[in-house]
Amino acid sequence: MTDTALDIAQIRAMFPVLDQKVNGKPLVYFDNAATNQKPQAVIDALVAYYQGYNANIHRGIHTLAEKATQAFEATRTAMQHFIHAAHSEEVIFTRGVTESINLVASSYGRAFLQAGDEVIISGLEHHSNIVPWQMICREKKAVLKVIPVTAVGEIDVAAFRELLTTKTKIVAVNHASNSLGTINPVAEIIRLAHEVGAVVLIDGAQAAAHLPIDVQQLDCDFYCLSAHKMYGPTGVGILYGKTSLLEQMPPYMGGGEMIRNVTFAETTYNDLPYKFEAGTPNIADVVALSAAVTFINELGKDQIAAHEQGLLAYAAAQLLTVPRLRLIGTASEKVAVQSFVIEGVHPFDIGQMLDARGVAVRTGHHCTQPLMEQFGIEGTVRASFAVYNTHAEIDELVAGLHKIANLMA
Ligand SMILES: Cc1ncc(COP(=O)(O)O)c(C=O)c1O
Repeated sequence: MTDTALDIAQIRAMFPVLDQKVNGKPLVYFDNAATNQKPQAVIDALVAYYQGYNANIHRGIHTLAEKATQAFEATRTAMQHFIHAAHSEEVIFTRGVTESINLVASSYGRAFLQAGDEVIISGLEHHSNIVPWQMICREKKAVLKVIPVTAVGEIDVAAFRELLTTKTKIVAVNHASNSLGTINPVAEIIRLAHEVGAVVLIDGAQAAAHLPIDVQQLDCDFYCLSAHKMYGPTGVGILYGKTSLLEQMPPYMGGGEMIRNVTFAETTYNDLPYKFEAGTPNIADVVALSAAVTFINELGKDQIAAHEQGLLAYAAAQLLTVPRLRLIGTASEKVAVQSFVIEGVHPFDIGQMLDARGVAVRTGHHCTQPLMEQFGIEGTVRASFAVYNTHAEIDELVAGLHKIANLMA
């Protein structure tokens, strides 16, 4: 059963890792919000690079170096189009969302925050979008404010309006929540923040594989992605930044590639994007990211989302048939992530018992401890879906949960 024209069986066949048994049972992989699986085309791109044209980029004039440089820069262009950035030099390669946020907090924050300034995040943030701001606020004696989250797991936009003042310099929120799946009204948040002159960073970790992203239409100042959450390799991501801001920002790391000229007395810095790409980058994974973008584009994000939304609606309904199960996160707009708890059973035990049936879910606080505190829980069980998941797999999850709930009654 599928909710779109996509042939899910054919898509599954592109993912070799799915074709295996775990603990004697066919693997059901529902940990996609942590990292999703990689199609053969991405694996092939990695192998092709190492087998055919491994070389360091930008500095060589030999054939392999040119080929590697071309492939690396082609991914930059692919990512530019993927997020609809105006210029390719606004796409900076990083290790992922965590590094992208740290880059902005350290570089922009250190240069432009002053004592008494305010940074606003939301109560829905991943630790990656909390801790870097705490660190820089402490250093600069700035104030970190948090937008409250409602009982269903939505950002309270009215409360956000109240928090905004002329002292607000940075607003950093996620496009979609990793713990609850909530899709946040980022366009409105950006518009309101700009009214008081603040810059806005959007953590797009959970949006990349599911939602259309148009940084020009959003008018965000920074946008962060991780490749491994969009069918690409681990260890690579991007930071998008508006040219006007990136140009004003000091480098994040010093080293090779980010310089124009070095003397012992002074160094001048390279143009964008290289000013922010010190050292040999993760060439192989950047190159393979192109194949992930092609995979998503060929299926179409709208088709992917339609299939995943069908899974989410089905899962939410089926999960509620399990005794003592409570859904955590019931926002009206969600990506395909469903957190839940079962009264009287620890999430960790549920995760272990599901694993024994071949079902992979994530349990715990999902790097959102303050959010869990708000819900008065230590953690949840989280099932998160990707384009290759099926309704039959959800039936397997739910059958397992019925057994667990009855066993632990
Ligand atoms: C919403 C969100 N932000 C940030 C991150 C951190 O991403 P990475 O570990 O790829 O840097 C994650 C990863 O789970 C996430 O879900």
